Amino acid sequence: MKTITVNIDSRNYPIYIGNNLLINSELLSKHIVGKQVFIVSNSTVASYYLDTLLATCQGYKTDFILLPDGEQYKTLTVLNRVFDQLLLNHHHRDTTILALGGGVIGDMAGFAAACYQRGVPFIQIPTTLLAQVDASVGGKTAVNHRLGKNMIGAFYQPKAVVIDLNTLKTLPEREFRAGLSEVVKYGLIQDANFFNWMEQSAEAILQKEMEPLAWMVQRCCEIKSNIVAEDETEKGIRALLNLGHTFAHAIESVTHYQRYLHGEAVSIGLCLAANLSYQMQSLSASDCERIKQLLLKLGLPVSIPADLYKKQIITAMGLDKKNIGGQRRFILLNQIGNGIIHDQILHDVIEQVLV
Ligand code: NAD
Ligand code: GLY
Repeated sequence: MKTITVNIDSRNYPIYIGNNLLINSELLSKHIVGKQVFIVSNSTVASYYLDTLLATCQGYKTDFILLPDGEQYKTLTVLNRVFDQLLLNHHHRDTTILALGGGVIGDMAGFAAACYQRGVPFIQIPTTLLAQVDASVGGKTAVNHRLGKNMIGAFYQPKAVVIDLNTLKTLPEREFRAGLSEVVKYGLIQDANFFNWMEQSAEAILQKEMEPLAWMVQRCCEIKSNIVAEDETEKGIRALLNLGHTFAHAIESVTHYQRYLHGEAVSIGLCLAANLSYQMQSLSASDCERIKQLLLKLGLPVSIPADLYKKQIITAMGLDKKNIGGQRRFILLNQIGNGIIHDQILHDVIEQVLV
């Protein structure tokens, strides 16, 4: 088992990465504060892992709630069911909430923990690759509003993140690949060696070989925790984690969140961000091509499909000239391994990239 510490003032917490951590009651007990535990999960994840976690929590007064599975249920209305069950089951201020699932469950359980009785401890137990390398680390918690994704939320750090790599064995292949785009993102913004290693290890990773998989998750968590330690509330460097995401969110929005998984849209967004960096003369054509080839090798989409209109995407990015005077903040690459924040991207350059 590897342990990484996220250093945030007086709220340091460990990220544990290993196998069979779900059955490690000693490990979990270290971070359970009182005598009560409340597990938040969904029916899909629960069918694989709830009984195991309940057994691990023996000795605590444990209750659970299974939320419906899907991004469309990441709402305040559904979150209220969590508060109902916590109250009906008499959970006090020293209860510990366990988030067992992907990013949707992690974001919702984390936000419930931030709000319930003005804040109770919680532990992230992420079961998708995307949640293990990204969503469970760094304390962003939220639900969606009908007018915008993740619009209601809080920065609220967990007491620990417990990553059991075995849970990836039941994750659908498409979800696994989608998570890999966020992995590539870390190499792009901060670690050229890691990007090189991804190029060499792509097959082993797709085969889910345990050693490279464990190293990959560890490296992502290290990069993310360093960034979060420096800039918890995204006043500066944390924005690098949004590489490709402005494009991705627009693509998800114009396809009504039906056609692409988030990570797939991020993959297209990474290629567009690389192309934008090339247009701005900060990235070479050969690096652009390497990025595209790695994402293709990982089975991810790399371009906007022909049936989507450039204009729709520009509008969805809030980039209409009339709205913003043609300029907006983007994350660019100086080279592979070096992301930069750029505030002066001209509308016309973005149009060229979207051709
Ligand atoms: P998800 O939580 O919807 O999980 C994807 C699917 O996999 C679901 O159907 C889920 O039930 C299933 N699943 C999860 N674990 C499984 C397992 N081990 N075996 C089988 N099936 C399993 O999606 P996601 O990609 O994990 O997360 C996306 C969410 O994360 C979005 O809401 C996004 O906003 C959020 N997010 C948050 C942050 C953050 O910093 N807080 C960062 C990135 C994304
Ligand atoms: N997923 C971006 C962040 O945590 O800041």
